[in-house]
Amino acid sequence: MRFELLLVVTAVISITAKPQSKAAQRNKLLLISFDGFRWDYDQDVDTPNLDQLVLDGVKAKYITPPMLTMTSPSHFTTITGRWVEDHEVVHNMMFDTKTNLKVPHKKTLTRSEWWDNGPLPLWITAQNQGLKTASFFFPGGGANYSGQAVNRVLLEDFNHPDDNETEWRENIDKVMSWFSEEDFHLVTLYYGEPDNVGHAKGPDHPDRKKIIMQIDRTIGYLREAIVRHQLTDTLNVIITSDHGMTTVKKRPQVDEIILNKYLNLLKLASFEILDYGGFGILTPRPGKEQEVFDALSKAPNLTVWKKEEFPESFHLAKSKRLPPIVVVADLGFNLNSRFIVYVNKGDHGYHSGEMDMKTIFRAFGPDFKKNFISDPFDSIHIYPLMCKLLQIEPAPHNGSLSATENLLNGGPQMTCLPVSLLLVLLLLRFTLL
Ligand SMILES: *[C@@H]1O[C@H](CO)[C@@H](O)[C@H](O)[C@H]1NC(C)=O
Ligand SMILES: *[C@@H]1O[C@H](CO)[C@@H](O)[C@H](O)[C@H]1NC(C)=O
Ligand SMILES: *[C@@H]1O[C@H](CO)[C@@H](O)[C@H](O)[C@H]1NC(C)=O
Ligand SMILES: *[C@@H]1O[C@H](CO)[C@@H](O)[C@H](O)[C@H]1NC(C)=O
Ligand SMILES: [Zn+2]
Repeated sequence: MRFELLLVVTAVISITAKPQSKAAQRNKLLLISFDGFRWDYDQDVDTPNLDQLVLDGVKAKYITPPMLTMTSPSHFTTITGRWVEDHEVVHNMMFDTKTNLKVPHKKTLTRSEWWDNGPLPLWITAQNQGLKTASFFFPGGGANYSGQAVNRVLLEDFNHPDDNETEWRENIDKVMSWFSEEDFHLVTLYYGEPDNVGHAKGPDHPDRKKIIMQIDRTIGYLREAIVRHQLTDTLNVIITSDHGMTTVKKRPQVDEIILNKYLNLLKLASFEILDYGGFGILTPRPGKEQEVFDALSKAPNLTVWKKEEFPESFHLAKSKRLPPIVVVADLGFNLNSRFIVYVNKGDHGYHSGEMDMKTIFRAFGPDFKKNFISDPFDSIHIYPLMCKLLQIEPAPHNGSLSATENLLNGGPQMTCLPVSLLLVLLLLRFTLL
């Protein structure tokens, strides 16, 4: 009789204890993006801190960004888990093909009409489920979504230097105090390097190696800061990026592409964004669609697509914003419209299948495995992983947790204890009877 009672009591405890221990287990999440960090940038530089992260956490050999290997489109896929055709942030520049409006990247960061197209980014979904979130310079963080702002937002000023190491550390200190003193659950932190150096000097320049060493020191600083703020057992960290970088091919090595040699842009196109690296868009004048397509098809070192004929894997065909014609240059070629104005030595925007466009994924913290190298996966699968880590219900998305779940520690161990206790008691009861 007495044992029976005990049994019932234990069963009740094990049921009620379950949600409690689960809530206590919710860890915080820091997502860091180092813009334009190509997947192999750590392989020709000494990076002791990144190396240590492999032992202390997980590393994917590389990850694949969505098609439109550009900063805003790719970051927004990471934070929404949606393909570019659904979230509609189809360029770094905001544009309107009807009015010919073109807004440069930094000015788009507070233009909600560019970002807010239905799919909700993780910040908002998490906030709607009671969590506190912040965006530190992260693309998309400065907009409102269905009228809602991210709880705390910092935006870069116009002439913000990308490579100030002192400021990088200060930013980490700020984020750590948001977690430890103000109980934020999710913070996304963005750095403009190594993209900036990659464009200006090219991925093979010694300065690119220098900035990777600076990033490595910053990661070392982050690890110390986590300990100092006593967040080791409660903070998960994901370090990733938006795309890679490739060396721009120039004369005399190649003939640079000048599109006006193949078609009279003024006569045939009513809207264009060319002269923006390897990715170009244009709207043919009415009735000129086929003529534009045929002319561009004859140009060497590029591929031209009609929007509705995009390969399925691009996940772009459904976009309403993209103009009818998209041009993707072969790796390393630039799309110049009328003459060569282009000064970059490195660029991205090329096909996401190119190895040079692949980027990094590292993670560590209480919920991640240790010393685990994962197969490559698409960056879209980071979203369901982040929802799982934050224990929130994801918004509709295109990722799949099965692609990233294996990075996490196994099953819910906490709930096993009452069950085994129950079994012991059950056994005891039978033995005594
Ligand atoms: C977001 O909404 C708030 C409150 O309505 C408003 O003050 C702010 O200007 C909006 N920000 C953007 C970027 O639209
Ligand atoms: C770098 O950042 C620190 C801290 O914000 C600031 O004091 C310093 O002036 C900055 N240096 C440069 C060269 O901008
Ligand atoms: C670029 O196109 C030209 C003309 O078709 C071709 O000869 C050349 O091999 C191409 N260059 C590269 C690097 O693919
Ligand atoms: C992406 O997800 C959205 C929302 O669930 C869905 O409507 C869309 O069909 C998905 N796209 C693909 C290619 O599966
Ligand atoms: Zn970028």
